[in-house]
Amino acid sequence: MAAAEGEAEETGAGEEAAEEEESHITDISFSFEGPFGKFDQFQLQRGLQVYTEVCSACHGLQQVPIRTLSDDGGPGLPADQVRAYASQMFIYDPEIDEDRPRLPTDHFPSVSGLGMGPDLSLMAKARAGFHGPYGTGLSQLFNGMGGPEYIYSVLTEYNGEEVEQAGSILYGNGAFEGGLISMPPPLFDDLVTYEDGTPATVDQMARDVSAFLMWTAEPKMMARKANGFVSVIFLIALASLLYLTNKRLWWNVKHRDQE
Ligand code: HEC
Repeated sequence: MAAAEGEAEETGAGEEAAEEEESHITDISFSFEGPFGKFDQFQLQRGLQVYTEVCSACHGLQQVPIRTLSDDGGPGLPADQVRAYASQMFIYDPEIDEDRPRLPTDHFPSVSGLGMGPDLSLMAKARAGFHGPYGTGLSQLFNGMGGPEYIYSVLTEYNGEEVEQAGSILYGNGAFEGGLISMPPPLFDDLVTYEDGTPATVDQMARDVSAFLMWTAEPKMMARKANGFVSVIFLIALASLLYLTNKRLWWNVKHRDQE
């Protein structure tokens, strides 16, 4: 009896410690970071492959129209490949009251049910990896929100621990809040075979799929950055002209004495 009490106390203390512990997020320098960052088309293609072959079993992408796979700045697949890709997934069509192959104009499927995970369309924008320093969130100004870093870290921070809780198994994960996640470790070395010959390590697949999910969450990121840059140049030019105009307008007033 005494021993059981001791154990209960110990686990209680352990949970508290786990809650206080900061989740561990790895900072990665992705190609799309910084004011001139761009998505790496080939990385997005590899990420799409990882999503399709691994994650799509449990996670939907229901906000993403399949046709965007051929967009500039995205994975940039040729139109015929996008059609072929779409037709592998089925959708219920109320008009013919049957399932039919998807078209590029359809969206990716949604996935729901027991053991399935949340939709990933906007996950890279829904989670922040960086909160510091001291919870001020200032590091987000320099490093971005850390959404893709969060996804990468959830995929790579499994510590091998398995706990059974209320009939389901939870896996120890240093990046997931609370330290236990119900998603079984999805990635193993060489789980996929990349066509471009990139070695499919867990690290590489996690990077690629995180970059891909950043693209699904913000497909127009590059256009946004380009617009921002042009706007800043425009504002600098406008500000200089206004400054000179102001000088010119007040010239006579300021130099009255000397006239
Ligand atoms: C066997 C099913 C399964 C597979 C395969 C799977 N997941 Fe999950 N995933 C889940 C479940 C279930 C959860 C919910 C975990 C929880 O809330 O404890 C989850 C949660 C997540 C989360 C955390 C979401 C959050 O709330 O913060 C991310 C990110 C994620 N999955 C990404 C992926 C990616 C990327 C892949 C492919 C490499 C993948 N998952 C493959 C089942 C799966």
